[in-house]
Amino acid sequence: MKNILIIQPIDKSGIEILENRPDYNFEIIDGTDLEQIKEKIVKCDGISIRTAKLPADVIRSAKNLKIISRHGVGYDNIDLEAAKEKNVTISITATANAVAVAEHVMFMLLNISKRKDMYDKTVKSGRFNDRNKLPKTIELWNKNILIMGFGRIGKSLIKRCIGFEMNVYVYDPFVSKEEIESLGGKKIEDLKEGVKKMDALTLHMPLNEKTKNIINYEVLKNMKKNCIIINASRGGIINENDLNKSLNENKIFGAGLDVFDTEPPDNDNPLLKNDKTFLSPHTAAFTEECMVRMGKETIQNIIDFFDKKLEKSKIVKL
Ligand SMILES: NC(=O)c1ccc[n+]([C@@H]2O[C@H](COP(=O)([O-])OP(=O)(O)OC[C@H]3O[C@@H](n4cnc5c(N)ncnc54)[C@H](O)[C@@H]3O)[C@@H](O)[C@H]2O)c1
Repeated sequence: MKNILIIQPIDKSGIEILENRPDYNFEIIDGTDLEQIKEKIVKCDGISIRTAKLPADVIRSAKNLKIISRHGVGYDNIDLEAAKEKNVTISITATANAVAVAEHVMFMLLNISKRKDMYDKTVKSGRFNDRNKLPKTIELWNKNILIMGFGRIGKSLIKRCIGFEMNVYVYDPFVSKEEIESLGGKKIEDLKEGVKKMDALTLHMPLNEKTKNIINYEVLKNMKKNCIIINASRGGIINENDLNKSLNENKIFGAGLDVFDTEPPDNDNPLLKNDKTFLSPHTAAFTEECMVRMGKETIQNIIDFFDKKLEKSKIVKL
């Protein structure tokens, strides 16, 4: 019998998989109380976890733990060293998220370029006749977009950008020029030079020491004034203070943010009050369809692991 701890609720389709397996016990907890996780983790063989933090001391208190299955693809909430030290496998729902996030990027790009809030408010407040006085919107057609990080989400997004007839550039030191060109993009080697000609820039890489603050004032001040920046990867990859300053100095046109340095962001975070930002609460992957896919995959990954058939592409290299 395997004991599975589900930290933070998942879609019922995932739970149903476990209900049909008499060889698995499971318990669902909300993940807000670290002491509770620490107490429950002692006896469990596998964990499914969403965004709750799993620090080193919690992982170290586990006795039988073999797998931490992330409901999602980022794993910066898990202490990797402790997992490695205890020989715990970390898996991700690698096939579930990409399309949902890529669609969210298009949604943010369109909302900002079409000045959604301003136009919507104009009509709803009875000012239809102001239509000629409003600042104009921007087309995506024929514009240069830079996709930074060309993994699952970047590759899903390029198809959508090409659908809008955008010119797609890619910055990812780990993906070859040939692969990028085969999917219709152009590889950028020099980021500082490359950003100068972009009309849009979107981030799809992991947060680590190399990517933290990779988008900072030095980069932003050289961008085109009409440039739109989207971050649906992780907060911290863009320096938030520098972004706010650049928006206020009209160095760039707008920013769409699904993720923040601190989540939830502080109430006094100026990006929350800036008219040039378009925000969502880390929900790029929260489509109904994606929640079902993630719920099923996070559980299936645990079962596949114990059945010794978990695909390598779903395992995080530690
Ligand atoms: N907003 C959300 O709800 C949400 C949902 C899913 C994923 N994410 C985040 O999106 C990001 C990408 O997810 P994915 O599934 O496409 O990951 P992935 O692992 O498939 O792709 C990441 C890509 O980033 C590249 N990369 C690594 N370091 C880089 C660097 N220094 N510069 C440029 N590129 C670099 C890698 O080569 C890889 O191609 C992750 O940070 C993940 O946490 C956010």
